Amino acid sequence: MAIADGISIIRDSQIHPLTIQNSIQDPNLAGYLNTWQPTSYRQSKSFPAFMYTSEEVYQLERSLFFGKTWIYVGHISQLNGANSYFTTSIAEMPLLIVMDRQGILRAFHNVCPHRAAPVAVGSGQCNRFICPYHAWTFDLEGNLRGVPNFEAYEDFHAAEHNLNAVHVDRWGPFIFVNAAAECEPLAAQLNELPDLFNAYRLDEWKRVHSMDYYTDTNWKLYVENNAENYHEPIVHKSSYSTNEVSWNNSYDLIQCEARHYYYLQHTPHPTSSSEQASGDAAIAHGFKPELIQSDLPEHLMAGSSIMSFWPNFAWIACPESIIVYTIDPQGAGRTRIRWEWLVPNTEAAQAPENLERLISLYDRVQQEDMDLLPLVQKGVASPGYVAGPFSPSREVGVHRFQELLMEHLSGRR
Ligand code: FES
Ligand SMILES: [Fe+2]
Repeated sequence: MAIADGISIIRDSQIHPLTIQNSIQDPNLAGYLNTWQPTSYRQSKSFPAFMYTSEEVYQLERSLFFGKTWIYVGHISQLNGANSYFTTSIAEMPLLIVMDRQGILRAFHNVCPHRAAPVAVGSGQCNRFICPYHAWTFDLEGNLRGVPNFEAYEDFHAAEHNLNAVHVDRWGPFIFVNAAAECEPLAAQLNELPDLFNAYRLDEWKRVHSMDYYTDTNWKLYVENNAENYHEPIVHKSSYSTNEVSWNNSYDLIQCEARHYYYLQHTPHPTSSSEQASGDAAIAHGFKPELIQSDLPEHLMAGSSIMSFWPNFAWIACPESIIVYTIDPQGAGRTRIRWEWLVPNTEAAQAPENLERLISLYDRVQQEDMDLLPLVQKGVASPGYVAGPFSPSREVGVHRFQELLMEHLSGRR
């Protein structure tokens, strides 16, 4: 499968962040952006309240990085070979992801160049996109092919009204788009992440389930919650207190790091002496051998990974499952989180009883965070809010995320 190159991008010239800063209405926000300086993770504090509540901040985020960095939009299995498509929306940017007649992956703004209706809905197979408003027709390469009742329009050039393309690329099965006119390759933003997880053989996993969760929470609070382990034994005490998940008894052994565009957390899998005595590496690490990805190296077998990749992609990965996150801001105080369940491509891993176990386990973990985060949103919005300090050992990912965010908003990136 190929990725489209030479795509046409029709867009206004880029606006420098500092130009936008000059037009900021809220003097508190303008002052914060102008005076912000990086601090050590040993001294850092959380954002002021308006960073989580302000409509102006949300609109800046939409224009300065959701529209201009690589964002995760979906899994390759949502396409079904040549002539297939799916639609999505991230940060209120409707998108159309297409595999064209040649099997080339393409992405477009799902906005008709006539009068802005979505040219496609849902997902499926087709040879043409026919806009549901006035029936302009586009081929799968985004070219305008049919324009009813335009014979009398003077000097009409169909090529000037093609679908508005965005850059698209993949990390294994994961599809990312970048709506900037010009951008660095996805590989530059990913940095060393693909090398670190190559041994998972991500292309082989099967996407077996997805669920959209909605929360009255600013999207940053959700990302921050996923980029720290401080809360885990408290918020997730139900799973910490049982033997059903691999992170049981591992809290003091967690290792984490935050650099480049990501936070990475390694949670060792506990082993018992009887399990070790089995002589099987999977059993030694608490897994049923028939349910895990085969031939994993010891370092991936020995622990779970929590990863948070700027700005909206994350996962919980272990030898028997990968839960992939799409974090989709829908307003200053509203977020959709899509979780996708991936399992190894074996009959046992895809058996209904195994899927039910994995879906109910992680759904409960998600609900525990979902119960708490709207209360945190109310807290930051209250007159009693003060920006608190981060744990130097447990919250380095929150510090790195806030640093990245401020580097973008203040024009340092
Ligand atoms: S808005 Fe699409 S044809 Fe009019
Ligand atoms: Fe959590």
